[in-house]
Amino acid sequence: MNTTETTKEEQTFSMPRIGDKAPEFTAVTTQGHINFPSDYKGEWSILFSHPADFTPVCTSEFMTFAHQEEKFKKANCNLIGLSIDGLYSHIAWLRTIKEKIKFNGMENVEVKFPLIEDISMNVAKKYGMVMPGESENQAVRAVFFVDPKGIVRAIIYYPLSLGRNFDELYRALIAMQTSDKFNVATPADWNPGDDVIVSPAGSCGVAEERMTATDELECHDWFFCTKKLDKDLVLNEILQK
Ligand code: BEZ
Repeated sequence: MNTTETTKEEQTFSMPRIGDKAPEFTAVTTQGHINFPSDYKGEWSILFSHPADFTPVCTSEFMTFAHQEEKFKKANCNLIGLSIDGLYSHIAWLRTIKEKIKFNGMENVEVKFPLIEDISMNVAKKYGMVMPGESENQAVRAVFFVDPKGIVRAIIYYPLSLGRNFDELYRALIAMQTSDKFNVATPADWNPGDDVIVSPAGSCGVAEERMTATDELECHDWFFCTKKLDKDLVLNEILQK
């Protein structure tokens, strides 16, 4: 094997990292063919995998995501699901969800975002969604946030038994968009309206200024300065009207 060839094992375990270009693929979905990420240029995407159709945790997740799809759309973000099942299984499952399942006050839920069929595991392997220690033939609950330039910006993984927290996925999306728009970082548990963190001082002079200035910054020490960022300003900039 020459040095540019990869083994089957390496392909299964390879995954894009934060800051990488999202691996390209073409796929069949419940909403027709998609080319990822090119079809979504200029918009954010959340590409997420689930273990299997017709399973309870996945059903609760799909209902929750479908229920919140408009909220994500307003934040310029598309949802794209995937499991290692075929198209007809996907269609049958989504029909069953709409016709029969009630969960957390939701019923008659129509999943309108694309669900990728990935029997070949083509996409699951490219994105490192199969973790053989957890399951050899089902994807774990992976979440890839891809930005408008097609760059992977955040990755979150959950095991098979743990349903995702969709408020946290939305919070992470808004926080990353806020960082991009206002050139700030967001502290632990940040939500719009909370103080944000300004970039660390890059020189002794700036460090000194930070400790003596009485402007908009609140500096707890030279390396830890926060400032106010109005909630309406954030939401007006980020959410589409
Ligand atoms: C579920 O979605 O309920 C599930 C799927 C695979 C393993 C365990 C639970």
